[in-house]
Amino acid sequence: MLTLLKLLKDGRFHSGQALGGALGVSRSAVWKQLQLLEAELGLSIHKVRGRGYRLASPLTLLDSVAIAEHASSCNWPILVLDSIDSTNAEALRAIERGQTAPFLVLAERQTSGRGRRGRKWVSPFAENIYCSLVLRIEGGMRQLEGLSLVVGLAVMQALRVSGVSGAGLKWPNDVLVGQKKIAGILLELVGDPADVCHVVLGVGINVNMQMTEEVDQQWTSMRLESGQAFDRNRLVAQLGQMLQAYLSRHQVEGFSAIQAEWEQNHLWQGRAVSLIAGVNQIDGEVLGIDSQGALRLKVGGVEKIFSGGELSLRLRDDS
Ligand code: BTN
Repeated sequence: MLTLLKLLKDGRFHSGQALGGALGVSRSAVWKQLQLLEAELGLSIHKVRGRGYRLASPLTLLDSVAIAEHASSCNWPILVLDSIDSTNAEALRAIERGQTAPFLVLAERQTSGRGRRGRKWVSPFAENIYCSLVLRIEGGMRQLEGLSLVVGLAVMQALRVSGVSGAGLKWPNDVLVGQKKIAGILLELVGDPADVCHVVLGVGINVNMQMTEEVDQQWTSMRLESGQAFDRNRLVAQLGQMLQAYLSRHQVEGFSAIQAEWEQNHLWQGRAVSLIAGVNQIDGEVLGIDSQGALRLKVGGVEKIFSGGELSLRLRDDS
């Protein structure tokens, strides 16, 4: 089915006979695959008698060679998949198989994209970026401190450099424009964090997605913010370069060197918030973060520190 899509991606008309010839199948088999493309990937295909078939709009697919051409300073090996359950899950399987880190896993779509706190990450075909960078961490806990916040900062900068000037951060690692989420980060770890471990840095960016009924929170995309479509290969390259720069600074200098820059870009600095931890809710005012990336809240006049992957923030109505 995806071989057929690759023949159609130029957005031009192709006759059933030519497509069948290229695939070595009958015209009716081509027809069946076209139906599948529409049903499974949500693509719209024009079918015109006497001219053949074409995609409603041309498609630029992810391509590791194009990414490498745009990213001079980033040379992680890249695996590009047409469809996978989750790039994080695939990255974890690759670690299990003994693949040498660092490496990057990208997919055109995810059938079970994972979000934080058990949520699903909506991942339609060829519209957004779903990527997982795998690092081997040997420096113990210090190399993990604030890591997910650093990734958020790199993603935010990649969006800004690409033209989404309003992108900012929300603790711990959401990237928002205004109140709407444009990118999310999910870190997963295997091994001994105090010794040697692998960390999977999963990044989802809403790039060209314009419509979906499935997302259960306020969201936006680069295209909705700017009115233009983005070349995802160029964006992956930009993201790779930003990640490389921020991660090496984090590795050498530690999170404390990045703390101030992170706070300057925190959209909810000084705001009245509720911190949600399971069924518990703590109301306070955001003071900032500490040198390890934990949240500093003023609660009842006293500064308190919070950290942990299951926490999330909401703005209070009176904020
Ligand atoms: C969040 O809930 O904000 C985190 C979303 C992380 C989504 C990305 S998409 C690529 C990678 N693979 C996954 O299954 N999830 C992450």
